[in-house]
Amino acid sequence: MMAMAHTPKTNENMTTAPSNAFSRILITGGMGFFGWNAALHLRERGITTISTSSAPQRYPASAQQQPAQMNVLDKASIEACFADYLPDAVIHAAAFSAPLACEKDPDTAYSINVVGTQNVIDVAAMHQIPMVHISTDLVFNGEKNVLEDGFYTESDALNATIVYGKTKIEAERFLQEQSFGKWIILRSALMFGRGVAWANGFPQFAVDALKSGQQPTLFTDQFRTPTYIPDIVDAILLLLETENYGNIYHCGGLERIDRVSFVKRYAAVSGLDTSGIITCTMDDIPAYTTRVRDVSLSTAKLQAALAPKWQALPLEAAFGQMLRG
Ligand SMILES: NC(=O)c1ccc[n+]([C@@H]2O[C@H](COP(=O)([O-])OP(=O)(O)OC[C@H]3O[C@@H](n4cnc5c(N)ncnc54)[C@H](OP(=O)(O)O)[C@@H]3O)[C@@H](O)[C@H]2O)c1
Repeated sequence: MMAMAHTPKTNENMTTAPSNAFSRILITGGMGFFGWNAALHLRERGITTISTSSAPQRYPASAQQQPAQMNVLDKASIEACFADYLPDAVIHAAAFSAPLACEKDPDTAYSINVVGTQNVIDVAAMHQIPMVHISTDLVFNGEKNVLEDGFYTESDALNATIVYGKTKIEAERFLQEQSFGKWIILRSALMFGRGVAWANGFPQFAVDALKSGQQPTLFTDQFRTPTYIPDIVDAILLLLETENYGNIYHCGGLERIDRVSFVKRYAAVSGLDTSGIITCTMDDIPAYTTRVRDVSLSTAKLQAALAPKWQALPLEAAFGQMLRG
């Protein structure tokens, strides 16, 4: 009897894909802030995306992207997704991502961020599907004197003191210990992109508060290298296309900036009144137990690997793109 060719399932994320090696990309956590923006950008690039969610029913039927069911704690659901959708690559963005929530519930943080990642790796390895793991600047404790000693590089020691960072370190370690070699770890910083009602990132929560007449409280003493999600996605595509496996890269934005200045720069482009912003230091908020002072990332290694094809956008150019939608 002749074997029937398996036709991959389609969902509403699907577009006509170009004929390149990575024309179907599965995004775990695809309805989260990063995943949502990443899928939008990939689709604008003509790539078919399969966004997954542990609770697809949570999202409105009107959402542009309807997710496929996948709980990273349920290996069978991961296997089913890979078998049904036959992706060429997976971007693993599913996570228990709120640092304060991780601090309050370390068991769940460990399960989703470490065990969940192990499960996704196991299935990716079984299918020999390249996997890009999204990690974070918060694998560092933020105490380096980055102005004198340079921004954090890939060779700096991992020393997170917060639960979220520790779980992300564990997940990275597991990935590196695999015999399956087709992995890439991309550590990014405070991500920004278009807002979406159910997964708002920075600066949207501050912008939305200002627009509705509230007074958001923002830190003056927390420094990051905010990263525009389409820049991250373009870097991922280039790394995949060049089969740049087995490497860790930092993917930060061009500037080291505090949160207040970041929102003010966005406001200057969008015409938003920022007089309502209340400024404070991290120490002013005793309940903020996940204080990390400065985790500015050096992106030099990534830039060298992808030159001359990739360069992060300046903040104002990225804000302009976001506002044009
Ligand atoms: N946002 C940032 O500034 C930033 C910076 C650096 C690194 N990162 C990393 O980037 C990735 C994405 O972050 P994000 O900001 O987009 O976070 P997010 O908005 O919280 O998205 C993560 C998604 O993971 C999904 N998820 C949670 N538990 C799951 C489970 N058991 N099974 C399957 N999916 C599950 C959730 O969607 P469902 O409820 O639909 O399942 C959630 O929306 C994370 O790995 C994070 O560590 C983020």
